[in-house]
This record gives sequence, structure tokens and C-alpha cells, in this order.
Amino acid sequence: MTKVGLDLRRVYGAYPTGVAVVAGLVDGRPSGIAASSFVPVSLDPPLVSVCVAHTSTTWPLLRDLPRIGISVLGAHQEHAGRRIGSRAPDRFAGIDWRATPDGSVLLDGATAWYDCSIEQQFRSGDHDIVVFRVHDLDAATEIPPLVFHKSTFRRLT
Ligand SMILES: Cc1cc2nc3c(=O)[nH]c(=O)nc-3n(C[C@H](O)[C@H](O)[C@H](O)COP(=O)(O)O)c2cc1C
Repeated sequence: MTKVGLDLRRVYGAYPTGVAVVAGLVDGRPSGIAASSFVPVSLDPPLVSVCVAHTSTTWPLLRDLPRIGISVLGAHQEHAGRRIGSRAPDRFAGIDWRATPDGSVLLDGATAWYDCSIEQQFRSGDHDIVVFRVHDLDAATEIPPLVFHKSTFRRLT
């Protein structure tokens, strides 16, 4: 592997992000992934994006849903980030979530949430850039966010 290839994870990881959970109801059960690649994109129209690896086995289940929820995790939700970001079969066990009437799955206690539909998808290297249209949203800004930095969950101090 080239020097760039070897350095990518370490250097990408120097950029601090939040942690979002991207989730929907699949056959009546919650299904989702954790994503540190969540980025707000546009105000008018309201668009946000997530980059999803082509290796994801969950994304093919989510991408045909009419609505998908995005929850920005609070600092107290490290367990949920770790669990939903794993390959565990029942990732939502023990995690408090709710579904909207259209099937978005949102985590209770998140610092922000978005109820979305997929607007556009672009293949980009080994990921897809997925752009979501926001239909509803809210924030509980008194809840401090979970931070992901250098492959480690952290808090703002
Ligand atoms: C903190 C954290 C951030 C993650 N960010 C992303 C991401 O931005 N994009 C992505 O495709 N996977 C990301 N993952 C991995 C996915 O959450 C998930 O583990 C992966 O898609 C494998 O599960 P799957 O095969 O069920 O999709 C992240 C995992 C963690 C723990």
C-alpha cells in the first residue's frame, strides 16, 4: 500500500466529528448504522449527507425505505454509538428508540434528529455519498454531543 493509503485512517481520524445513527424500520424492526460522516449540506432546500461504505450490509436494507431517521448522539450515548456501529445482529437491544409514522427510527435522548428521505446518491470511491432531504427536525442543544476523534469516543469538556 502507498504511504497515502497507510496514512489515511490516522489522518482522517484527526478530524473530529459527531456520531450520527442512520436508521429505519425494516419489516417492523429497527435497522441502522452509526456514521461519523454525517454533514449538513444545504439550507434551501434542506439537505444533509452521509458517506456509506460499499461493504455495508445494512445500507441495502435502508436505501429503499421511504423515510430514514438520523439521530445525532449525545455524550451519554457512547454505548449506542458503539453497539449500532458494530456488526452485532440485534444492535438496538436495550437502546431507547421510537419510530415515526413513516418509519424513520430515531433515538430517544439524541442531541438532534432529522426525519429524511433519500434525495440523491453518488458512487465515490469505496463509499456512496448519500444526500437526504430533511422533512422534519429538532435539536435538544442542552444535551452535549458525543465526539469521535482519533478512533475514540470523546466528550467536549
Ligand atoms: C463511530 C463510528 C462511525 C462510523 N461511521 C461510518 C460512516 O460514516 N460510514 C459507514 O459506512 N460506516 C460507518 N461506521 C460503520 C457502520 O456503523 C457499521 O458498523 C458498518 O456499516 C457495518 O455494519 P453493516 O454491515 O451492518 O452495515 C461507523 C462506525 C462507528 C463505530
